[in-house]
Amino acid sequence: MRIHSFSVLSTASILPSLASAITFDCANIRQDGYKYSLKELGGVHEIFHAEKDGDLISNTTYIMNICNVLGKKAASFEGLQCEGSRNICGFYRKKYDDGEVDDAYSFPIVGLEPMGHGAIDPVIKRLKKLDSEREGLQVELKGGWYPVGEKGKRKHKDASAVIEFECDHDKTGLEGLVETSEPTLRVREEDKGDGGDEKDGEGDGESGGDDEGKEPFDDGSRPERSLQFKSFGKADDESYVLRLNWKTRYACDDYALSRENSSGHWGFFTWLIIIFFLCAAAYLIFGSWLNYNRYGARGWDLLPHGDTIRDVPYLFQDWLKRVLNTLQGTGSRGGYSAV
Ligand SMILES: *[C@@H]1O[C@H](CO)[C@@H](O)[C@H](O)[C@H]1NC(C)=O
Repeated sequence: MRIHSFSVLSTASILPSLASAITFDCANIRQDGYKYSLKELGGVHEIFHAEKDGDLISNTTYIMNICNVLGKKAASFEGLQCEGSRNICGFYRKKYDDGEVDDAYSFPIVGLEPMGHGAIDPVIKRLKKLDSEREGLQVELKGGWYPVGEKGKRKHKDASAVIEFECDHDKTGLEGLVETSEPTLRVREEDKGDGGDEKDGEGDGESGGDDEGKEPFDDGSRPERSLQFKSFGKADDESYVLRLNWKTRYACDDYALSRENSSGHWGFFTWLIIIFFLCAAAYLIFGSWLNYNRYGARGWDLLPHGDTIRDVPYLFQDWLKRVLNTLQGTGSRGGYSAV
């Protein structure tokens, strides 16, 4: 019995620390004595990066929610299904110019496995520590995998994301982003693609498909967007990394602090002063009432400690004299000791 209760106790005390190592709490980040909350950047966001190689177009769409799991709906895209328990998924499509699909797969980049196995294992660093010129947070999140090799013989390598949240006081971080929790929008887009209308339009522009620059190719970059795709690729033999840049005021060192000061600490002191004055007023009023009723006091005598209060000016004068005397005394010690 004793052993049993002990094990329950130790499990309970270990669990919280374990949970924080497995998941990423976007609203409560503490690093080097600073506090950050990236809660406002939560929600499902979608960006894509496309590359053109001859008549083949590789397009990877990244769907993410840094504060919560994607859920089954948000984790599906153009008929590809990623796991709803993940936070970031990639959807890779390789198509020919004419729309024929050469390859397509989805892969989890960050998050836990469907049954809750695995670990996100967040590694958080302040950008100032990496580069004194920069301000913000670098957050590494793990738990995903990337399929490597030929079709049908693919092996899973580890995948993770390194997101640099860069301090920018003018940006919330949501500029240029649309929350895409509605999969219907994406399905409609897919239907449009099947029609092949867009492909005809592209063909009209230039006859030579090889030369780039003439024909505008949308690689997915949006300079006005706060969230930027940097790269996705091999980090070492065993792992792949998605790198993102996210400009936001929520990554500024003083953001949480300044808000806390204005709403928290100031409020506390203001309340303290107000309560002090209320107490003093209540004391004087109640005391006066008591003096009036009990002793029939009038005028100065009404106030509790009326004598003392009346004497305050004299006491202050006295105190001032002493202070002045002491100050003068330091100048002419002899004279003072003679008195
Ligand atoms: C890539 O996929 C996105 C959807 O995430 C789509 O809007 C875009 O048009 C695609 N780009 C190309 C070049 O196929």
